[in-house]
This record gives sequence, C-alpha cells and structure tokens, in this order.
Amino acid sequence: MNAPAIPGYTHDDSALPASPVTAEDLEKLKATVLFGPDDEAALRTAGEVLNGQIEQVLDVWYGFVGSHPHLLAYFSTPSGEPITDYLDRVRSRFGQWIVDTCTRPYDERWLAYQQEIALRHTAEKKNKIDRADSVPHIPLRYLIAFVYPISATIRPFLTAGGHSDEQVEAMFQAWFKSVTLQVRLWSQPYAKSAW
Ligand code: HEM
Repeated sequence: MNAPAIPGYTHDDSALPASPVTAEDLEKLKATVLFGPDDEAALRTAGEVLNGQIEQVLDVWYGFVGSHPHLLAYFSTPSGEPITDYLDRVRSRFGQWIVDTCTRPYDERWLAYQQEIALRHTAEKKNKIDRADSVPHIPLRYLIAFVYPISATIRPFLTAGGHSDEQVEAMFQAWFKSVTLQVRLWSQPYAKSAW
C-alpha cells in the first residue's frame, strides 16, 4: 500500500521550477560548510535512527514554537489566533523534511524543492499552499536563528540507536552542517542581489 500523500508536499512534482542555485553553486557551498561524503553516510545512519521518532522530534519543535508567542505568530492570523489546520499541515511536511534531509540525494530536484521551501517562508508563497489566513512573511533573521534549536534538539534523538559516542557526534555534525547549508540556500530569495 502506498503511504498517504502529504498535503502540499511537492518535492516530486515535475512542474517544480528549477532552482536559480546551480549544482556548481551547491558544490561550493557544501565545501564551505565542510560537508562531504562522510557526512552523507552519517546522515543515512541518522535517518535510520530518527525513523520511528519523527513525531517525538516534531513534538519538541512544536513545543518550542508554541511556547514563544513571537514565533507562533507566523502560524497565526494577523490578529494572533493560532491556525490549527495550518500548524497540522505544515507539521506533516516538516516530518517529511527530516526524512528527506537524511535520505534524499542533494541533486537538482532537491535544489528545486529547497527553493520552493525558501519561497514558502517569504511573501511570495507563504500561506498559499495551505490557503492559510496567516501573516505574509517570516523574517530571515529568525530562519538563521533557528539553525541552533533545530540542530541542538536533534542530538538526544540521535543517541537512541545504540551507536558509539563518536558515531552520534558524526551524525550530529552532519545534521548541523546540512541545516546550515539549507538555510543558506533558503536565504537566496531574501537577498537575491547580495546572495
Ligand atoms: C514551513 C523548516 C524556520 C515557520 C516549513 C517547512 C519546513 C520548514 C521543512 C515545510 C516545507 C514544505 O512546505 O514542504 C524550517 C527550518 C527552519 C525554519 C529547518 C530553520 C532552520 C522557520 C521559522 C519560522 C517558520 C523561524 C517562524 C516561526 C514556518 C511556516 C511554514 C514553514 C509558517 C509554512 C509556510 C507555508 O505557508 O507554506 N519550515 N523552518 N520556519 N515554516 Fe519553517
């Protein structure tokens, strides 16, 4: 039986426009963040360890957002009412993103969906896919600041597979580098001429 489709998840949609970031740009960014084949291998292992813990990871992240009104505001109406349906739909795509970060090849299709995720944080596409009546734009400063909590909070989950401290550290470093790399890619539509 096929897994149920995730609402608004269009990674494999053939109509997805190509990213303005080229494969060559990506290679340079990977080199800049020291992301290499060992990190790819560590992420594959992380994917196996995190599989089965995705809902618990999302509970931590949603708990973090929900306990900070200035962050919850981006999942809320302009008057500040959280939109449950929007939170739920984004949550299922967020869960898939954890899997994709660990298991997908970082190829041109991945780059194209990276650009789509970036745009969904900006006025160009935020709210559109879920028809949400929310505020129009998430400031870049919060995207960058999120690299830390999204990285630090994953660490305890990486220890659940019974791997050595050294292997857990390798998984953590690979995850941290990947999140840094992705937020760099997502900064493109925010700072086109400065990118
Ligand atoms: C959407 C990850 C920063 C609010 C998403 C999605 C992912 C994601 C995976 C779903 C993408 C898809 O549609 O498939 C991240 C990561 C961040 C980050 C890894 C930084 C490291 C933030 C911040 C906020 C935020 C700081 C504000 C509190 C949202 C909202 C959506 C979203 C509201 C839904 C956008 C839409 O209308 O489609 N994010 N995010 N994100 N994120 Fe983020």
